[in-house]
Amino acid sequence: MLDKGYLEVEIDSALDLVKEINYLKKEKNAVLLAHYYQNPDIQDIADYIGDSLGLAQQAEKTQADIILFAGVHFMAETAKILNPTKKVLIPDLKAGCSLADSCPPDKFAAFKASYPNHIVLTYINCTADIKALSDVIVTSTNAVQIVESFPKDQPIIFAPDKNLGAYINKKTGRNMVLWDGACMVHEIFSLEKLLKLKLQNPLAKIIAHPECEAPLLEHADFIGSTTALLNYTKKAENGNEFIVVTETGILHQMQKASPTKTFIPAPPNNNCACNDCPYMKLNTLEKIYVALKYEKPELLMNEDLIKKAKLPIAKMLDLSAKFGL
Ligand code: 13P
Ligand code: SF4
Repeated sequence: MLDKGYLEVEIDSALDLVKEINYLKKEKNAVLLAHYYQNPDIQDIADYIGDSLGLAQQAEKTQADIILFAGVHFMAETAKILNPTKKVLIPDLKAGCSLADSCPPDKFAAFKASYPNHIVLTYINCTADIKALSDVIVTSTNAVQIVESFPKDQPIIFAPDKNLGAYINKKTGRNMVLWDGACMVHEIFSLEKLLKLKLQNPLAKIIAHPECEAPLLEHADFIGSTTALLNYTKKAENGNEFIVVTETGILHQMQKASPTKTFIPAPPNNNCACNDCPYMKLNTLEKIYVALKYEKPELLMNEDLIKKAKLPIAKMLDLSAKFGL
């Protein structure tokens, strides 16, 4: 019944989906958590919109009975790990992640075994199996500070994103061993098109996510997680134009927060004008409505895996709290 990744139900086209979702959320004591890369209509009905760190923090502390997670699979998994007594629903089970897929657990376990004495720092964009093999999880918001909290001579493996890993190595002067994984969305940006766009908009600041490749990051005026990029545009006083080098979903919150500023999405290396994550964009209002109404698909996890994967995530949350993040 869930072969497609979601329940296929005929929906009356006259139905006011926003009204119905809001009604169901109240009736079932459900909270809708959405990542910044979701479509604007989903962001606008979410109870909380955030980056991976913010969403994990919200999932851990929510008092709701149901967490409906409009993001991708590893994010919903993280919510279940942090708050296992809650029912976690995901609009489409096929909302995966190319970065998480680039790190299969068996290969990673062998990689880890070949670097004894190394601690394993892992980006949250990975499966629960990889988290269970890790010592500390990081997100793009806290990665640099967490790496710096370890002694300079501590050998570290960093997985799965080689671009974020290389960026952290450069920022901290470390030499972490990097797993060879990447996000298809952030790797597809075209440097040539970006430089052309900058020539056409010379006053625009280039702001980029650290999942992008190094040659592109070299041209950025500011590098940060989705939340950091959003905050940068809100606070910027010396500029009103921004070329945004990350998934386009974030532009909605940027434009909402700063209606008089101009946000230009950086183009990918294909015929599209902007860059959407195909997994994030699998979620729709219709699927959210169906998931909430029928409480399917539910994200279910093995208890032992939850226990193992929770330890490194809990460490990250403790360190983040210590850093005031
Ligand atoms: P953040 O939201 O943590 O910046 O991560 C970006 C991303 O690629 C999420 O999948
Ligand atoms: Fe994964 Fe990249 Fe999509 Fe984020 S943007 S969910 S890292 S594929």
